[in-house]
Formats: sequence, C-alpha cells, structure tokens
Amino acid sequence: MSAPAARTWRQCDARVRAQRHFGGDFHWLDLDVPPDFETPEAGQFVQLLLEPPSPVLLPRPMSIAGAVRRARSLTLGFLYAPVGTGTRALAALEPGSRVRVTGPLGRGYPLGRPGTPVLVAGGRGVAPLLMAADALARQRRSAEFVFGARTRSLLVGLDEARTRIVKRGGRLHLATDDGSRGLRGNVVQVLERLAPRLAAPLVIHACGPHAMLSAIARWATAHGAEAWLAMESVMACGTGVCRGCPLPCSAQARERVLAAGAASGAAALRGNPEWAMCCTDGPVFEARDLDWERVE
Ligand SMILES: Cc1cc2nc3c(=O)[nH]c(=O)nc-3n(C[C@H](O)[C@H](O)[C@H](O)COP(=O)(O)OP(=O)(O)OC[C@H]3O[C@@H](n4cnc5c(N)ncnc54)[C@H](O)[C@@H]3O)c2cc1C
Ligand code: FES
Repeated sequence: MSAPAARTWRQCDARVRAQRHFGGDFHWLDLDVPPDFETPEAGQFVQLLLEPPSPVLLPRPMSIAGAVRRARSLTLGFLYAPVGTGTRALAALEPGSRVRVTGPLGRGYPLGRPGTPVLVAGGRGVAPLLMAADALARQRRSAEFVFGARTRSLLVGLDEARTRIVKRGGRLHLATDDGSRGLRGNVVQVLERLAPRLAAPLVIHACGPHAMLSAIARWATAHGAEAWLAMESVMACGTGVCRGCPLPCSAQARERVLAAGAASGAAALRGNPEWAMCCTDGPVFEARDLDWERVE
C-alpha cells in the first residue's frame, strides 16, 4: 500500500514573507503563495526556482515544514541549510523578494494509519516532521517524537518539536552520537528502548540521512512495525517528467507493479518496475517498497 498521492500542484510566484536564522547553520524561510495553492500534506515538498539572474538553473526541492492559511495567502515554512550555490542564494533573499514555487509535490505521510504514531527525525530531516506533528495534533492524536543528531547543536527545531508534541500529551526522546544531549547513540537505539512501552502496531514516520532511514527500515521489518520514510534524490523537474530521481524498488514492489500492469493490460506504460521516482512515487515510501541494499 502506498502513501496518499498528491492531488493537484501548480506553479506560481511566491513572496518572501520572512527569513531568519534558526540556530546552527540553519535558516527558516516563510513564503507567501496565492490562496488557491493546495494546502500541503506533511511529507510533501515544493520546487523553489530563483528569479533571474540566478546562480543556478534548476529549481531546488524543499520539504514543507509548516503551512499557515490566511485570508489572502497561504504561508509555507521551510527549514533549510545553505549548503551550496542554490541554497546560499535562497538564504540571501530579503522579505518581499520573489521566488517561483511548484507544488505541493509528491506523496506525504499517511498520518491516519491506525497504531501508535512515532515520528523519527535525523538532523534537518526534522522539517517535514514538524508539520506531521502539527497534523497529528489537529487529529487530536498524541505521538512519540524521536530526534537524533551528531551533537546537540544539530538538534535544530527542538523547541518547535517539543511545543507541538507536548501539546497533545506526546513525548520527545533525544539521542546524540556524542552524548551531548539525550541518549548517547542513535534513533534506532531509542526505538529499541521505547517499543516495549508502546501499544502495537507502531507506525513510524521518519526523515533524515539515508543511512538512518535504512537502519529504521531494517528495524521496522524485524519488529513488525510499519515505516514510512521521506527519501531524497537529486531532482530536476520534481513532477515525474525527467526520470532523474530514481530509487531502487524491492522485489515485492516490483511484483506488485507488474501484477497491476498485467491486470490492466498496461504493463508497457508503467515504466521500469525496477525503479521508483522519488518525486512522484515518493518522497515518502513504505520501507518494504525499496531495495535497501541498493539505496545510496
Ligand atoms: C524531497 C526533498 C526535500 C528536501 N528538503 C530539504 C529541506 O527541508 N531542507 C534542506 O535543507 N534541504 C532539503 N533538501 C535538500 C536540498 O534540496 C539540497 O540541499 C539542495 O538541492 C542543495 O542545493 P544547492 O544549490 O544549495 O547545493 P548544490 O550546489 O546543488 O550542492 C551542494 C551540496 O549539496 C548536495 N546536494 C545537492 N542536492 C542534494 C539533495 N537533493 N539532497 C541532498 N544533498 C544534496 C550536493 O551533493 C553537494 O554536496 C531536500 C531534497 C529533496 C529531494
Ligand atoms: S525529478 Fe524529474 S522525474 Fe523526479
């Protein structure tokens, strides 16, 4: 079973509403998009294209970390690190600057699944999980929030995560590699300790480095938990056209695609069942649908 599909996306001009330093090397950007922009689901993303003259040609994918609807606009929030030419140019934008936005794109987290929701963030992977925590709070469901990073200064968005989680009686669990905050160790070690105290089934929603997601996928498979993982890939179009963001499918997912194709007589139209497109089949994938031996 896959996560909910994106419904409609559009391309429009957005205005920078606010830009602020967010701790560590991170920034928070608020963009006002027109009110007819579809309200995104947690886990979805947009493509941000800078106005010419821009130092980069292609748009940059960015997870949506927050969405606030107002009478005449929808404000989308982004938590990002200026790591290269495109994101550094984004960080230089002043309030009022224009950015071209395409979205909301991709499939988000299936937050309505029955079970105990466990949100797991690694470093800047916290961005879509802040929005997931908001959505669960609106559903009046409490969640466990596991947050891991190399060191305490990289637990960006910690206060925001805490506010959202405790609002509904959920709990925050921290881990750092160097032990400077929370458990000395990683998020899978936290899951290991936490799981016996939670009502099964656990439904994990995670985002972070691929090595972390791979470890969560293996843990979930071994413990009979569901895991929904937000993946990244280098993207050009973000809409399934360029075929530039493939991720390797598991044997099980391949068989499902082939069976669905055979049943509909449309196998030749379904593309290569070996690969899923991160932008349209994801970015949120169920753990069992990817071949973790081949995920880079
Ligand atoms: C679905 C999705 C959601 C994302 N959400 C966020 C987010 O919420 N916050 C955030 O800070 N970043 C996010 N990213 C990553 C972000 O798009 C990249 O950091 C950005 O593309 C780098 O652009 P740049 O021009 O600054 O760097 P470039 O000059 O293009 O590259 C600089 C460095 O960044 C690395 N890089 C480039 N593209 C990616 C990528 N897609 N993923 C990881 N590393 C990359 C390059 O390998 C290089 O080391 C997301 C990526 C995807 C695919
Ligand atoms: S980015 Fe073009 S197909 Fe995914």
